[in-house]
Amino acid sequence: KKLAAQPENIKTESLAQHTADAAGEKMTTNTGLPVNDDQNSLKGGDRGPSLLEDFILREKITHFDHERIPERVVHARGSGAHGVFKLYKPLAEYTKAGFLNDTENETPVFVRFSTVAGSRGSTDLARDVRGFAVRFYTQEGNFDLVGNNMPVFFIQDAIKFPDLIHAVKPEPDNEIPQAASAHDTFWDFISLTPESAHMIMWAMSDRALPRSYRMMEGFGVHTFRLINAEGKASFVKFHWKPLLGVHSVAWDEAQNISGKDPDFHRRDLWDAIEAGAFAEYELGLQIIPEEDEFKFGFDLLDATKLVPEELVPVQRVGKLTLNRNPDNFFAETEQIAFHLGHIVPGIDFTNDPLLQGRLFSYTDTQLTRLGGPNFQEIPINRPVVPVHNNQRDGFMRQTINRGKTSYGPNALGNNDPQQVKAADGGFTSYQERIEARKVRARSKSFFDHFSQARLFFNSQSEPEKNHITDALSFELGKVKMLAVRERMLGLLMQIDKGLATQVAYNLGMHLPKEIPGNRNIPADGDPAAYQSVQAE
Ligand code: HEM
Repeated sequence: KKLAAQPENIKTESLAQHTADAAGEKMTTNTGLPVNDDQNSLKGGDRGPSLLEDFILREKITHFDHERIPERVVHARGSGAHGVFKLYKPLAEYTKAGFLNDTENETPVFVRFSTVAGSRGSTDLARDVRGFAVRFYTQEGNFDLVGNNMPVFFIQDAIKFPDLIHAVKPEPDNEIPQAASAHDTFWDFISLTPESAHMIMWAMSDRALPRSYRMMEGFGVHTFRLINAEGKASFVKFHWKPLLGVHSVAWDEAQNISGKDPDFHRRDLWDAIEAGAFAEYELGLQIIPEEDEFKFGFDLLDATKLVPEELVPVQRVGKLTLNRNPDNFFAETEQIAFHLGHIVPGIDFTNDPLLQGRLFSYTDTQLTRLGGPNFQEIPINRPVVPVHNNQRDGFMRQTINRGKTSYGPNALGNNDPQQVKAADGGFTSYQERIEARKVRARSKSFFDHFSQARLFFNSQSEPEKNHITDALSFELGKVKMLAVRERMLGLLMQIDKGLATQVAYNLGMHLPKEIPGNRNIPADGDPAAYQSVQAE
């Protein structure tokens, strides 16, 4: 059953202050003037021209003319829900984050699920990665866990992100295909980007066709840091485990559903919450002591690698329950501005180069998407704790700041009780030691692109392996350029010869004798080979 306002949910309460309730009210203009008729424009005679004077006509049409804002540059298609997070046991040993130590109070959350490539109106059941972005409204400010439903990513360095997205989005001349990866530009890029091998296995698997948002896992992807009150740090990987289990649909089903109900996932989430079948996920942590940083055969800073659960088990530490649908899609789901830079004391970043670039990108894009520097004042973005600083003005400023001064250091303001000063006890960055030369390079520890791709393929059951083979055959079957198909077969050969052979057969092709385009494909686990390719 849809919950009425939850008095214990402080975010729901704060949103209620901004929620318009028009029940029983009469129509007005934006300036509060009562309106008798908003269906007939003011005219010179009943068959005459409309008059410029008609401010009611102009206001109505002007607002309509400006209703659209840019969709997200990626993850444009999404669905959101409110909920709460309840911690099972305090995690003081690892982190001082308040919400990860408080088992008494529930933390309000807002979650947005999304596809990546399609536009706002595209189908939910495209073969794609799903976004799984969670905002915790904590007593120490907003913490955003901006993850996906797959534990790894296509690229290792954020500087390649525009290339990846330009390749996966519809082709620039004809904007085809919408919301699907089966086209030349995507596979051309992938065939030339061997670091994508692991992610491609996930993207071609059943994981890319979730049965429901309620039935998919979530992953923070990067390695983050937890810091405890003594300043001791541990590495951490974040997971979401759905209590309904992980379920997918088959490709035929996906295509049918896309035709019949492109809102399939959105409708499923909405209806389930309305019916009281709340979506539930447990927060899982893989915690790795700092001293174990170099214990693995891969680099913890490489976002194309996961930490196998056999090596580091996932501890389930709390539960997320999505229990309330938004009141207004645009105001909440569309205007929420997630950013993995929104952290709280006790959580910090690592030097993962994909993570580092993301720290710039989200706020930057939101300045355009949400029209300037004041988007944190939009109700869904406001933290549940008060905000005080010396930032002022800008388009659409809502807050009326009192006081004479808005700068520091500041002596004039000594008599000004409104003066805002930085104070001890706030966030401090983890004091990681850095001693390095400035270089534009990639670490050799990032060079093994195939071991985990193979690990993932081998972890699949026979039917699941067949689905991956079929997906690759379908996708590459749509690729017109033979050279791209050949390069992809060369890449697949390095993951699993049987897989490559079957895909080649399905495409009516032979496996390449030598790996085509191998100037760009490092030999498995041989960093030297890749370096020489780069040097040429
Ligand atoms: C949006 C996840 C990599 C740039 C999103 C969203 C998610 C997400 C879930 C949707 C947020 C929402 O619902 O509002 C991820 C994950 C990544 C990744 C898990 C890799 C591990 C990157 C990289 C960049 C990037 C490398 C850029 C360098 C963006 C941008 C948006 C976005 C610009 C749109 C944000 C907005 O308009 O509000 N990402 N992303 N992402 N991502 Fe990423």
